[in-house]
Amino acid sequence: MWGTILCVENGRQRLRRAVYPGSFDPPTLGHLDVVTRASKLFDEVIVAVAVNSQKRPLFTLQERTEMLEQCCAHLSNVRVLALEGLLVAFAQRIGACAIVRGLRAVSDFEYEFQMATMNRQLAPEVDTCFLMTHQQYAFLSSSMVKEVARLGGDVRAFVPEVVAQRLDAKFHKTGAGIAPPTDES
Ligand code: PNS
Repeated sequence: MWGTILCVENGRQRLRRAVYPGSFDPPTLGHLDVVTRASKLFDEVIVAVAVNSQKRPLFTLQERTEMLEQCCAHLSNVRVLALEGLLVAFAQRIGACAIVRGLRAVSDFEYEFQMATMNRQLAPEVDTCFLMTHQQYAFLSSSMVKEVARLGGDVRAFVPEVVAQRLDAKFHKTGAGIAPPTDES
């Protein structure tokens, strides 16, 4: 399926596809800022939701995928897929030329630098491209959003409405049939 969309090499037109990977547990307005800007830089952006994140996610893979699909529905060149296994193998499989990552405060740098360096050694043809997060979201993180939501704070300034509702359901209406956090499925 990917082969039909992919470009012809050697100087002919080439579709610029990027992969934007992450845990997205949950997606924040910072993530959406990055994917929106990436969608203007690349012909197609695949948001890749990590299946086997070493972190124990609050939201299942399906929940994270659904939230992202809803949040990105207005971006016609953005698709959401599950990322299982090695990121660079996934990027190669879908014919992505770049990995997009958002860069927030200086504290992100070391981890991101390490990851980009490893990925480059594994697949030199897939470059990592950093987008500096909008200053409004420079200190925003999914973990902080979860913490605030868990303690009953209003997170609507930090996440899309659909995410705020899911957080509310997860933390405050678990008795109403919403599953509590589980190990990654
Ligand atoms: O949002 P996160 O948790 O910072 O995203 C981290 C993610 C999912 C991009 C990273 O863990 C990843 O690439 N996972 C896929 C497995 C892999 O390729 N690991 C080696 C990275 S050098």
